[in-house]
Parts: sequence; structure tokens; C-alpha cells
Amino acid sequence: MPEHVKKLILAPMEGVIDQLMRKTLSSINHYDLCITEFLRVVENLEPKHMFYRIAPELQKTATTANDTPIRLQLLGQNPTCLADNAARAIELGSHGIDLNFGCPAKTVNKNKGGAVLLDDPDLIYKILLEVKNTIGKNEQLSAKIRLGFNDTERFKDVAAAVNNAGANMLTIHARTKKHGYKPPAYWSHISSLPNYDMDIVANGEIWSTEDAQQCIKQSHSKILMLGRGALAMPNLANVIKHNEQPYSLAQLKAVLLRYSNNEESESKYYYSSRLKQWLKYLKLQYPQANQLFTEIKTLSCKNQIMKQIKKM
Ligand SMILES: Cc1cc2nc3c(=O)[nH]c(=O)nc-3n(C[C@H](O)[C@H](O)[C@H](O)COP(=O)(O)O)c2cc1C
Repeated sequence: MPEHVKKLILAPMEGVIDQLMRKTLSSINHYDLCITEFLRVVENLEPKHMFYRIAPELQKTATTANDTPIRLQLLGQNPTCLADNAARAIELGSHGIDLNFGCPAKTVNKNKGGAVLLDDPDLIYKILLEVKNTIGKNEQLSAKIRLGFNDTERFKDVAAAVNNAGANMLTIHARTKKHGYKPPAYWSHISSLPNYDMDIVANGEIWSTEDAQQCIKQSHSKILMLGRGALAMPNLANVIKHNEQPYSLAQLKAVLLRYSNNEESESKYYYSSRLKQWLKYLKLQYPQANQLFTEIKTLSCKNQIMKQIKKM
């Protein structure tokens, strides 16, 4: 492992990185942690099946391949409600709790959830404190933020609020909500934070080892979170951590076939739509994935799709 990378975390991506994707990617990479898609909580304690829907791994060991622990992410704005649901997630076996303060969705922001809270560090503090007090100080608590909502003015206040509330880890997607997903990511803002006891995780626009090195250099953080890049190059974590070569086309084909053969891929609609979605990321690194996408665009039958994968 290049000595500068300490840990790699697989990012939460709603509607994209689900149980099957976590299983697939963690079986070919050494991730240190996976964060799940978010469970939105408004005012109720959600029933257990809602937690299992987001994180089926909770029904077993709350780990995925290579013993990678999974951590449930919650999205909400009500401290007591978040704390109650966090306690339930921990009781079900989640390896800590992650709170989402970065979601840019209009409906979520309108209801005072997600990135809009970045303008309200006091509320972020109250939420984290109540969650931490409820789950107990031995449980891991993390928060995921952007640099701000419209600008970065409150970035340091938000980070301080997260730290003062006793969180163990803070992930920073190095862009404001206003920046959306437009490159670049402004990693250097992360280095402006004081030295905290909690882990600082840098995130955004890491597609290669060079990006990872630049990110570490500019952010001064040795823990990185990978999102879209991890989908575009399936073994990106090991490329960064262990100097592995990016997967060849033959290796990619084997991964796609294994993905297709999973029992979770039995549902016809789910399998074909999720695979097509993945190909949109894969084509960023493998032009052949674009061709495959064109060939299977109108197909939903798994056997027919697998035939095309084999031909790729
Ligand atoms: C389709 C999609 C879904 C996402 N869902 C979530 C989510 O559920 N929770 C969250 O905290 N961030 C979510 N994100 C943000 C990512 O976790 C990550 O911060 C962002 O994509 C930047 O990292 P990247 O450049 O490595 O992809 C999502 C991003 C995308 C593109």
C-alpha cells in the first residue's frame, strides 16, 4: 500500500451502491468500511424491515465480502427521531451510524434535511449530540457533509460542531451544494481544519491513483472515500491501496458475469436496470462498456444480457 493511504471507504450512493454492489466491490477490493444508502427519517421510529431494506447485511453479520463492516446512513433533521432510529440501527448490528448532511435533493432540503443544514451548525451539533448520547460513546458516529450550501463560509463552524458533539469521523465531499457535481473538487479546503481527534475523510472526484495522491496532498487527509470512481473502475480501491493494475477487459467481464449470477440478480427488472446504470459509470473507463450498453439497452432477459457480456 502506498504509505500515504490509510483507509478507503466505499461511498453511500442512493439507488446505485446497494447490497449487491457493496458485495461485488468489496469482494474484489479491501475497503475498510461501506456506508449504506440513506434511510430517511422524519418523525417516526421506522420498523425493522425498513432498515433491512436499506441494509440487508444487518440480517447476517452486518459485514460484506472480505469482512468489510457496513454502517447505516440516516437522513433527517429531528434530533430525537434521528437518535431513536440510530439506536435501532445499532441494536440491529450496524457498525456505527452515519448522518447525511450533504444531500442536495430539493424535496429533502425543503423539509430542512440534507445539505440545507450546513447553514445551521447549531442544529447539526444538537443532532449529533443527541444521537451520540443515545447510542453511547463506544459506538462510532460519523457525519457526511459538503463544504457548504451556497458558499464555504460556515464550513469550519460545521466541522467544529461535528467535533464538539463527539463524532468519531467526518467525511467531506469537497464541494458546496451549489457546485453540485461539477469538477473540480476543492480538496484544499479540508486542510484548513484544525487537528481534531475525529478522523477526517476526503471525498470527491477520485478516479485514479494520481487523483488520490493529489487529494491526500491537498487535503492532508489519509482517509479517502470513493464513489463514482469506484464504479467506473471496479478495482480502484486496490489500485490505490495495493498498486494493482486497473482491471483488464477480461477481468471486467468476469466481474460483470459474477454480478449477473448473484441470487440478488434474480429479479429481472432490478438486474437489467441496475446493470445498465453501472455501465454508464463503467464507460468512463472502458469504451467497450458503452457498446455493451447500446447492445443491451432494450433487453431485460438475463440470459440474453449475459450472452452480450460474454461477447464484449
Ligand atoms: C447517484 C448518487 C447518489 C448518492 N447518494 C448519496 C447518499 O445516499 N448519501 C450520501 O451521503 N451521499 C450520496 N451521494 C454523494 C456521494 O457519496 C459522494 O459524496 C459524491 O458522489 C462525490 O464523490 P465521488 O466523486 O467519489 O463520486 C450520492 C452521489 C451520487 C452520484
